Amino acid sequence: MAGTPGHRFEDRVREAVVEAALGTLDLDAKARLLSGQDTWTLPALPEIGLRSLVMSDGPIGVRGVHWSADDPSIALPSPTALAAAWDPELARRAGVLLAQEARRKGVHVLLAPTVNLHRSPLGGRHFEAYSEDPHLTGVIGSGYVNGVQSGGVGTTVKHFVANDAETDRFTVNNLVSPRALRELYLAPFEHIVENAHPWGVMTAYNSVNGTTMTEHRYLVNEVLRGEWGFDGCNVSDWTAARHTKNAVEGGLDAAMPGPDTVFGAPLAQAVRDGEIDESVVDDAVRNVLRLAARVGILDGAEPAVTDLPAPVDGPALAREIARRSFVLVRNERAALPLKPGTVALLGAAARDARVLGGGSATVFPDHVVSPLDGLTAALPDGTLSYAVGADPATELAVTGKEFALRAVCRDAAGETIGTTPLASGQIQWMGSDLPAGVTHEALHTVELTGSFTPRGSGPHTFGIKGAGAFTLTVDGITHFDDVQRPADDADPFEAFFGAPVPRAHPELVAGRPVDVSLTFVVALPAGIPMQVIAFALAHQEPQRDADELIAEAVEAARAADTAVVVVATTERVESEGFDRTDLALPGRQDDLVRAVAAANPNTVVVVNSGSPVELPWREEVAAVLLSWFPGQEAGDALADVLTGAHEPGGRLPTTWGSLADAPVTRVTPENGELPYTEGVFIGYRAWERHGRTPSYPFGHGLGYTEWTYEAVDADTTTVRVRVRNSGARAGREVVQVYLAPAEPDTPAGDRPARWLAGFAAVEAAPGETVEAVVELPHRAFEIWDETDNRWACVKGSYEIQVGRSIADRRITATISV
Ligand code: BGC
Repeated sequence: MAGTPGHRFEDRVREAVVEAALGTLDLDAKARLLSGQDTWTLPALPEIGLRSLVMSDGPIGVRGVHWSADDPSIALPSPTALAAAWDPELARRAGVLLAQEARRKGVHVLLAPTVNLHRSPLGGRHFEAYSEDPHLTGVIGSGYVNGVQSGGVGTTVKHFVANDAETDRFTVNNLVSPRALRELYLAPFEHIVENAHPWGVMTAYNSVNGTTMTEHRYLVNEVLRGEWGFDGCNVSDWTAARHTKNAVEGGLDAAMPGPDTVFGAPLAQAVRDGEIDESVVDDAVRNVLRLAARVGILDGAEPAVTDLPAPVDGPALAREIARRSFVLVRNERAALPLKPGTVALLGAAARDARVLGGGSATVFPDHVVSPLDGLTAALPDGTLSYAVGADPATELAVTGKEFALRAVCRDAAGETIGTTPLASGQIQWMGSDLPAGVTHEALHTVELTGSFTPRGSGPHTFGIKGAGAFTLTVDGITHFDDVQRPADDADPFEAFFGAPVPRAHPELVAGRPVDVSLTFVVALPAGIPMQVIAFALAHQEPQRDADELIAEAVEAARAADTAVVVVATTERVESEGFDRTDLALPGRQDDLVRAVAAANPNTVVVVNSGSPVELPWREEVAAVLLSWFPGQEAGDALADVLTGAHEPGGRLPTTWGSLADAPVTRVTPENGELPYTEGVFIGYRAWERHGRTPSYPFGHGLGYTEWTYEAVDADTTTVRVRVRNSGARAGREVVQVYLAPAEPDTPAGDRPARWLAGFAAVEAAPGETVEAVVELPHRAFEIWDETDNRWACVKGSYEIQVGRSIADRRITATISV
């Protein structure tokens, strides 16, 4: 692993190679290097032995340069799930796997991890961030970065900084106090820079206190590089670089994506015009070349990693992370693990699991194990029944494997110039990533064509996602032949993340295949300076009567010993590019749970959502298990936990409660500004300050055994806790240490009643006593003093509170600093 340049012999050698390479480049080549050549790469410079640097999203898998189901990737559980395991070593192992995936796909830099905070549960991309707590976020993020980089692959810790919601994300000016910035939003980045030496960061779209982040000299050059010693490469979020001089002088090194960016030719010109000093360009080139050298694509420089880690079994790790992330928030009368007997499995998401969040974090796994698959394999034959119960997908979804589609590319004369099979109805071709033989110059139309065999009879709905001229034909009838326009205020990535529009409602018969065709007249989307062809065919099955579906589920529940209901959000609820408007489960799922719980006292609810949802029936059911977006091995991991082969290992990395009680709910800017008026009080800090009781507190999560907290011994650096496994089976406990100041209010500002200072996990057999050792970071005792613009230790008395969650504190000690 690399430290800061100059620290070690290999680093000094690498720096010398970088310097020599820089010295031979002319201005045009330097400017060119800083500008994306296409959607995912920087240009090669053969004259210095530099190959093209390839980047890819992140964070749950490595999609590679093709946005397509034809190029599958391992899909791990969502980042919040990873954080729920409270295990930096597990995060490191996830990183090692991702480096292996990146190498397999020829990717040098992973656009991850996302370490923005859960400021509000309404944040649409909440699932992609770790936690509401900066310390937990920093620790998990460090583990992840260390893992990825130990495999010789770079990271870009993102999105620097305060990209905590999606509404108007390109333009919003977040007004954040220096204290909140330092203590909350910058803290994970700082922790990761110190503990994992990331080779990159990604600067966000948004502004902070009046300056857009790709031009934020103070936060990038002074804080990130100056104070913290970050020596990596600063890559813009996609299309976030807007101004040549301000961006390069603001510390931006690479403007992505290309080919048209504010760097490249405009940058060389600005230097020639005397607007920018060439030495500023040289600094940026140095940072890009250092990254290239570290990942091993600059001749003469030894890569930062020469001994690769041992190969990782991706599906096995995905399954392990999933079961370690599931949070059992309620388990009355030991409803779980399941007793022998019959099980009624209910819910649309039990059959079609939602295993990952949408947006740029999307990857395409080569298989998904649904809860139905997993439980069918794990339970004895004849003991499992299934009913849909309620379908949350009240909207169209991109077509999947039920359609056999191919894309036919034609030129303006209507001649076929290329074809390619498709694993889904989504086309997302970027840059030169086109079917063989096809060029952007020649391409005039793309037709998705093939057949579809309906699962049910009745009115099916077909829809179109994307903007432009389309023709949609189903079963020989043309239903739409017109231009579909985006809303005026649409996100420029609408064609990727926006909602499909219903355009046809043909009556179809179950089992009778029909021909389907969707033709798009190629036009590059407005507002995105890159060559992208993006659109999709969407579909929805005929909708069955909702009451009938619930009644069917109730019957199945009544006939079984246990009912397991899987409830879920949809891609229209949680994804990138928009925020949530409420925390309710979509469709009739709440009604389904209530009806099933009334019919069967042994009702277990599995909540398949990336971020908090309201569970108004939670006291009416026997058990509630949060499974997040559990990744491709979802169903097997669920079976592991439900059957008791493994205990659920997760603890809440974020508070779950109702929207009415949630302390921070404003995510919509007014006149372009979003003031973070709550200061340092987000998450549990805010719930406690407002005296509100959430549904499930931060840190909460049950296993299958019991723990007794026997003794604590603490000083200002180390807390030693003795815990005994007082239950009947082996288990793992996350011992959490909260720091509660005797005087929360200080002249420099009010502090929370308590905060997470550290944690450690222990494992013990039944009856065994073990010691957890938790190191306290000095930062835990510090406040950001806005008057002197520095960290200040707040002296006084603190209670060390040790327990199972912020609300379940078992044992205390008092210390003075
Ligand atoms: C997202 C980034 C992502 C990038 C490339 C942006 O819209 O905000 O997180 O890495 O796209 O897909």
